[in-house]
Parts: sequence; structure tokens; C-alpha cells
Amino acid sequence: MVLGKLGASAWTSTPFRLAALSIAAFLLTAAGIVGFLFWQTNDLLTEQVLSGLRAEVQELRHIEAAAGSASVAEAVKLRARPDGPGLYFVADRNGRKRAGNLSRLPPELQGEGGGTFRYEREPGNERLAVALPVLFSDGSRLIVGRDIEEQREFANRMRTVFLLGFGLLSIAGLAGGLGAGRLLLNRIDQINAASRSIMAGDLSQRVPLAGTKDELDNLARNLNMMLDRIEQLMSGLREVSDNIAHDLKTPLSRLRNRAEATLRDGGDDCAQYRAGLERVIEEADELIKTFNAMLLVARLEAGALEGTVEPFDLGALVRDVAEFYEPVADEQGLELTVDAGDGPEIVANRHLVSQAVANLIDNAIKYGRSEPPGPGSIAVSVTELANDMEIAVADRGPGISAEDRERALKRFVRLEASRTKPGTGLGLSLVAAVARLHHGTVRLEDNAPGLRAVLVLPRGRAGTGA
Ligand SMILES: Nc1ncnc2c1ncn2[C@@H]1O[C@H](COP(=O)(O)OP(=O)(O)OP(=O)(O)O)[C@@H](O)[C@H]1O
Ligand SMILES: [Mg+2]
Repeated sequence: MVLGKLGASAWTSTPFRLAALSIAAFLLTAAGIVGFLFWQTNDLLTEQVLSGLRAEVQELRHIEAAAGSASVAEAVKLRARPDGPGLYFVADRNGRKRAGNLSRLPPELQGEGGGTFRYEREPGNERLAVALPVLFSDGSRLIVGRDIEEQREFANRMRTVFLLGFGLLSIAGLAGGLGAGRLLLNRIDQINAASRSIMAGDLSQRVPLAGTKDELDNLARNLNMMLDRIEQLMSGLREVSDNIAHDLKTPLSRLRNRAEATLRDGGDDCAQYRAGLERVIEEADELIKTFNAMLLVARLEAGALEGTVEPFDLGALVRDVAEFYEPVADEQGLELTVDAGDGPEIVANRHLVSQAVANLIDNAIKYGRSEPPGPGSIAVSVTELANDMEIAVADRGPGISAEDRERALKRFVRLEASRTKPGTGLGLSLVAAVARLHHGTVRLEDNAPGLRAVLVLPRGRAGTGA
């Protein structure tokens, strides 16, 4: 059988079970309705036959009352035809037949009440009939009946049709359920297979799409998006741990060497120890800074902004940050100017935006001095665009060559030219992470000469989380 080839899972699948359940409910209701209809029809037909019989019995009773049972026999002789639907039997008080087309008194009707009985019209042709018996006062008996074989046949045929219909309906319904189950299972099997190989370690695998744009495709698409995100986080995590191992090894061993050197060379000179310890503390501070920046970047890339954004005056924030850096810029002989009007509002994470702006200004001060060193300037500006706010920090230093700009935004990347300056290479990657988190962008441009770092953030609307 075809159905035998289906796996056991198709029979236990949800669609099949649902189909079976709904078919069972449908059949039960249909059987109830059809049964009721059948019973009512049968009842009506029987009632019709019985009322006909009662009328005829009444008529014959009148004849008997008026002219005696002999006249009844005469009347029956006239009415009884061999093949007619009317069945009669008249017997005298001794039970001998006096008239009628029934060959004998039906044994089912020996008593007082009426009912159905079987009789043979021709030998071997048994038919069903219904009859009312009458016992006259002189002891003679009358049976008046009707042949209902046709009614019974009609009922039988109806029953067969209904049973067949129900059978076909059930088979079609179950086959449909099985088919739907198979189809659905095939797709779910694909999703399961993909999940298994992903769980086995192949994170690059994706759930196949059928292209039908239905719920299962939606599910697959969401799973794939989730996998993309997981893969991204995993590779980020791997990168961070690689970088930690690589980038912290050097400062840690430097710290250790400093401490060792101080112990070795210190002798009895307290001042030597003090200087050594101060250098050790400086190294440790650098390490802590690196750690903090690394943690912040990692947390930013893993997290979402929801619930941490608020509307604030971007111009005021940028001016505050710039003001904080002014003394340092002065010290380096750099003139720091801010061009930011009052009131441009933005909905964003205040702390992160201020950190990003601080990183850009810090870079401009650190790397923005012209070569050979001379007076330079840093221009910070806030510009309102249609949907975005643009924060630009421009210096007049050596800048970054076009091919290095993309790379400079990555974690731990420090360009050759700045190896001598302190830093971890995390500042710009933090700016990039802040931009990404706010659905904004960051780009490095040529300021001819110098670098112009531009952070574009969508203004965001209150409650949208961006
Ligand atoms: N304004 C700039 N002019 C020239 N080079 C720059 C400028 N800003 C950044 N760079 C280059 O890009 C590299 C990456 O910058 P980033 O801010 O990410 O790290 P960092 O400044 O070295 O360290 P940190 O900011 O973590 O202290 C810097 O090492 C430097 O080589
Ligand atoms: Mg920096």
C-alpha cells in the first residue's frame, strides 16, 4: 500500500493528528444529522402507512358492525389483489381462512397488537410488511396489512450510500492530512538537519529557505538571522580573546620587567624604588585603561541600546567635551575651536556619544600636530542634516592615508607612525561601535592636510530606541 511507505513520523505528525481529529468530529456530527434525518423520514413513512391501515380497519369494523363478519370477508375478497400492496387475511373463529391474499396468519401477529412481519408473496421471496390485527365479537379475525419491502429497500440503499460516502470522506481526509503532514515534516526535517549540523559546530551553515514566504520560511529566516548574529558575536569574542592574549602579553611582561629591574637595581636607594614603583603604577594604569576600553567595546557590540537613550542637546554635549580637552590642547600648542549651535536635539545614549566625541578629540590632540611641530588647530563642529546629526573633528596633522582609514577603525589597530605614542588602538573602534549601535556611521576623511573624522548619528525619535 502507498500509505505503508510513509514513515511512522507522518502518522504521529501534528497535521495528521489534527486532520484525523477534525474528520472524526465532522463524521460524528454528520452521522448524527444523517441518522436523525433517516429516523424522521422512516417515522413519517411508517406513520403514513399506519394511518392508512387504521382508516381501513375502521371501515371494515363498520362493515362488520352493520352486516357481520361474512360481509367483511366479502369486502376483503374484493380488495385483496395478489400483487397489490394491501395484505389481508380473514379467519373464522376456528382459525380457518375465509378470505385474503395472505396464505396464513403471520405467527408474529398472534396477539392483540400490530407490528411488522415477514411473508412470502411467491415461494422464496420473503418480504417485509406491517399489519394491524382485529378480533371481531363473533371470534373471527381480520388482519389488514401493507407491504413495506420497497420502503425497507430504500432505507437499505440510503444506508449503503451514506456508509460509502463517509468511508470515502474519511479516507480522502486522512490522506490529505498525511500529505500535508509529509510536506510540513519534510521542511521541518530540513530545519532540524541544519540545526543538527550547526550544533555539531558548523556555524556557517544556514537553514534552507523554500521561497514560499510562509510561516516556515519566516521561521527559517529568523533562525538564520539569529545564527548570523551568533556567528558575529562568536567571531567578535574570538577576536577579543585573541587580542587580549596578544596585546596584554607585552604590557604585562613590561610591567613585570619594570618591577624586576627596580628590585635588581634599587639597592638601598629609596628614591630608586619610588621611581620604579611609580613606573609600575603608570604601566598598571595603562593596562586598566586598555581593559576598560576592551570591555566597553565588547559590551557595546553584544548589547542593544533599548532603554538607555534619552533626548539631549548635542551641541551642548560636544562643547562640554571640547572644554574638558581645551587645557590639554593648549599644552600641546593646539587651538581647539567648536562650532556647535544651541539646541540641536538628538535621542541617543548620552554617555556613549560623549565617550565617542572624547575619543575623536583625544586622537586629534595626540596625532594632530603638524610635522615639524608647530602651532596647529583642531576644529570641532556639529551640523544638522535632514535626518541625522554630523559631528566632525578635523585636525591639521599628518592624517591617515586612504588605504589605512578602513583599518584604523578596527580594534587594536595602531598605525606605524604612532607606535611611539601611548594608546591601545581601541579609541576609533569604540567610536565605530557607538555609531553602529545608533544605526549611524563613522568615516575618516582627508582634511588636506590632516584628518577629518566624521560621526553621523540619526536624530532618533523618542521611544524608538535609536
Ligand atoms: N587624528 C589622527 N591623525 C592621524 N592618525 C590618527 C588619528 N586618529 C587616529 N589615528 C591613527 O589611528 C590609530 C587608531 O586610533 P585609535 O583611536 O583607535 O587608537 P589609539 O589612539 O592608538 O589608542 P586609544 O585611542 O585607545 O588610546 C592610531 O593609532 C593612529 O595611528
Ligand atoms: Mg585614540
